Amino acid sequence: MSRLEGKVALITGAGSGIGQGIAELFGAEGACVGVLEIQPQWAKDIEARLKSAGVKAFANQGDVSIAKDAQEAVQRCVREWGRLDILVNNAGTSVQGTPTLIEMSESEWDRIMAVNVKGPFLCTQAAAPAIRAAGGGSIINISSISARSCYPQRGAYSMSKAALENFTLQSAVELGQWRIRVNSISPGWFRTRMNAAVYERPGELARRNATIPLGRIGAVEDVARLAVFLASEESDYITGESIEIDGGLLAAALKSSAELARLRPNLGIS
Ligand SMILES: NC(=O)c1ccc[n+]([C@@H]2O[C@H](COP(=O)([O-])OP(=O)(O)OC[C@H]3O[C@@H](n4cnc5c(N)ncnc54)[C@H](O)[C@@H]3O)[C@@H](O)[C@H]2O)c1
Repeated sequence: MSRLEGKVALITGAGSGIGQGIAELFGAEGACVGVLEIQPQWAKDIEARLKSAGVKAFANQGDVSIAKDAQEAVQRCVREWGRLDILVNNAGTSVQGTPTLIEMSESEWDRIMAVNVKGPFLCTQAAAPAIRAAGGGSIINISSISARSCYPQRGAYSMSKAALENFTLQSAVELGQWRIRVNSISPGWFRTRMNAAVYERPGELARRNATIPLGRIGAVEDVARLAVFLASEESDYITGESIEIDGGLLAAALKSSAELARLRPNLGIS
């Protein structure tokens, strides 16, 4: 039997990258998939892609940082399929060429915190009563190794992911009484639309691959397989955890100052 048969999942930001990979694998594992995606065309595209693969699916165009959009996506899952079992707070943003903390604008700070922190809060608040009514389930927050390891010029991104990981703990403590498990996945280096410009630099991919103990950057399927495990009953006694999925990147102590000094030119830091 498929591992998510009979389950209903809502995935934010699934019009691209990691969220798209999670939506497709959840569908292949038997889940009905609702999507909340801010880009109108990407919302249409993922709905069509899922349906053409035989998955029961819809995609609402909307913004995770707007409470009404979060609530409507949850209500549509319940309206269409009678329940909600799984929420994946995947939508996230970073600003390319992020300035230093000193240069960062107030509007950049506000946008990153709105999408990466307030969005998961609003979606969790909207989804938890429906997941409780289904008898419990799983919430997965897509964080980042940046929650634990800072580079210069990451602006508010690293802080937003650290806040998200604490939100995971808080949610796990409060929602456990309803058999709702809450965990974070913290990806390392993945090539998606979010960071496409980084990988256009000559030699960047090879340099990154060489830095990672497992010898390659991640693929969205790596995260999707972990998300299926955390969404399914196979992880029934796991909550309040953050699982790094980085090919050993953090284990290799990239953040050591010697390594950072070697990487500085590649990171665009002079
Ligand atoms: N790519 C990486 O290397 C990497 C590493 C660590 C963590 N992450 C995290 O993984 C998650 C997915 O990122 P990705 O790499 O797939 O990037 P991506 O840009 O390909 O996908 C992000 C998706 O979220 C959508 N989105 C953005 N703001 C939204 C909003 N306010 N409401 C609804 N949808 C919104 C975008 O339109 C896009 O479809 C993010 O939370 C990101 O921080 C990515």
